[in-house]
Amino acid sequence: MYHYYYLLLAIVLIEGANFLIFLLEEWTELILRWFHVIASIAWIGSSFYFIALDLSLKQNKNLPDKSHGEAWQVHGGGFYHLVKYLVAPSKMPSELTWFKWEAYATWVSGFALLALIYYAGAELYMIDIVKYDLEKYEAVMISLLGVVFGWVIYDFVCRLSLKTNVYVLISSIFILITVMSWAYSEIFSYRGAFMQIGTVLGTIMVANVLMIIIPGQKKVVASLLANETPNPIHGAIAKQRSLHNNYLTLPVIFIMISNHYPLIYATKYSWIIISIILIIGALIRHFFNIKHTGAKPPYWVCVPIIILGSIIFYISDLGKPKLNNVKNTATLIELIPEKTLVSAQEIIVSKCSMCHAKEPLWEKMKNAPKLVNLETPTDIINNIDNIYKQSVLSYAMPPGNISFLKENERSLINQLYMSVHNLKNK
Ligand code: HEC
Repeated sequence: MYHYYYLLLAIVLIEGANFLIFLLEEWTELILRWFHVIASIAWIGSSFYFIALDLSLKQNKNLPDKSHGEAWQVHGGGFYHLVKYLVAPSKMPSELTWFKWEAYATWVSGFALLALIYYAGAELYMIDIVKYDLEKYEAVMISLLGVVFGWVIYDFVCRLSLKTNVYVLISSIFILITVMSWAYSEIFSYRGAFMQIGTVLGTIMVANVLMIIIPGQKKVVASLLANETPNPIHGAIAKQRSLHNNYLTLPVIFIMISNHYPLIYATKYSWIIISIILIIGALIRHFFNIKHTGAKPPYWVCVPIIILGSIIFYISDLGKPKLNNVKNTATLIELIPEKTLVSAQEIIVSKCSMCHAKEPLWEKMKNAPKLVNLETPTDIINNIDNIYKQSVLSYAMPPGNISFLKENERSLINQLYMSVHNLKNK
């Protein structure tokens, strides 16, 4: 008798443990996300603050040696007097606050979320078996490779173009991201592809801090400590990267929060939306960057923003699934009696495809006439109404009956037409 109770107890315990694990996962995810959002607020907040501060600096003759400009600010019950030194003050201050942990914490928590949700759940959030039937580990590898590749190429282009035109650099980065965005939308699910580009961009931003900005500043500090004059190049490079980060923030945040909006991330042309958001985000930042210098803000940015906004609105509608065509052709092919389809297809391939093919055999013909391809069952079903008109209801095709389409062959094409029609009307 007792062993029934033990069994019951075991079941209750196992069920309970399962639920606890589930609960634990739920809490871990929420707390990680909470942390990630807070870290990114701290990072992006300080980045916005410093860009605005930098742009608002004013010259003043009475400023100390080697200073570049000053700003007065009021906040939280007090006045702040900030002075910027470029490249560095003459001597090392006794205390120095660094801004780097915000960026690192954002990346680490973001990557943990990515691993927990997207990598662990790759079959749901990254892999689209219709595009590529990847194994989980393959999807993860492809994602990681892209993250590294994105940074390496970006960094390479930046190094190359330190002396060249800034517009060349910006266009190269834009093309890089657009191509990656397209490529990943071909490989991954739409959701996976969107988050992948968010990760690539976020990683570029953090790597700018970790690999370029902070090491540059460390070198400057080292020269100060050694009583040498620091090399101004480090400041110039850091400035370039920090400006890129500034222009990338809005698009990255857009991508990170977009996974609640399937109509935007999960349609055929979502990858174009990413590249247009890159431009819109940059235009918005540009507006504020000019405004913070105290100059008249560039209100003209509203015009391209509205135009581009309308384009992406239209694109997300354009890319939604086309239910009629796709579903019907595939299912029709399954449902049509095989004999009917095969005999009509044989006739069409032998009497029409010398012209109606991607590479027609007919002399001097470059493309299928009127771009009507009649090679596969799908081509034939898609064009069946027109085929019927041209070769059953009339003698228009083949032209001048050049390939001798016989009456009984026309009737077999007719049978296919009837069978498709009956199925469609069911
Ligand atoms: C010798 C080459 C040749 C062969 C063989 C041929 N076609 Fe055509 N087909 C043409 C040309 C040329 C046109 C374009 C006619 C025009 O410009 O109006 C055309 C147009 C068509 C169109 C599109 C008509 C339209 O205006 O939308 C259909 C459908 C078509 N053919 C079906 C067939 C079928 C079915 C067969 C076989 C039974 C066939 N064709 C065989 C050359 C050919």
